[in-house]
Amino acid sequence: MTQPSTSGDEADRGERAEHRWAAVSVAIVVLLVVMATFAGLYQAAMPQSRVETVDPRRLHLDGEFIESNLGSALEPDGSITVRGIGQQYSFTPSCMIVPTDTLVTFRTTSADVVHGFLIDGTNINLMLVPGYVSSLKARFATAGERLMPCHEFCGLGHEGMWGRIKVIDKAAFARLAVSQRRLNCVE
Ligand code: CUA
Repeated sequence: MTQPSTSGDEADRGERAEHRWAAVSVAIVVLLVVMATFAGLYQAAMPQSRVETVDPRRLHLDGEFIESNLGSALEPDGSITVRGIGQQYSFTPSCMIVPTDTLVTFRTTSADVVHGFLIDGTNINLMLVPGYVSSLKARFATAGERLMPCHEFCGLGHEGMWGRIKVIDKAAFARLAVSQRRLNCVE
């Protein structure tokens, strides 16, 4: 049973509480929108701290990605660095060679538009974006040859943009590396 003398007060109090909670939930929504907007704008305006940039117009002129520096390099610590470029519509080198059971660092970029870099049968999957270095570390357990298709639509010749990667025995690779500064399997 409600008592007529207090029901008006209770209704008032209830309404006030409801307004307060409505205001709190609107404030939360506004705060989330402000945070999302700030994060989005900030990320779009700032380069990520770990991103490495490179001038795509000067790749062939100097720096890490000149033609004579592309391919697989044996580092002093025994690991391998593979440098490659994607361009409409091929990879350079078009055949990459790496040893089994060795840490391999891929360092790649694009000379023109966005390409995809994927090694069939592995989880190696990169985007080659002009202006940026895409880097990934990997290790190949078994020898063999794998396909390397461009998996990002990059123009009319996209379908024909394929490369290969040859994984060879560690000892065989070491023998090759004695005589060549940069290795590839382009025939
Ligand atoms: Cu390059 Cu598709």
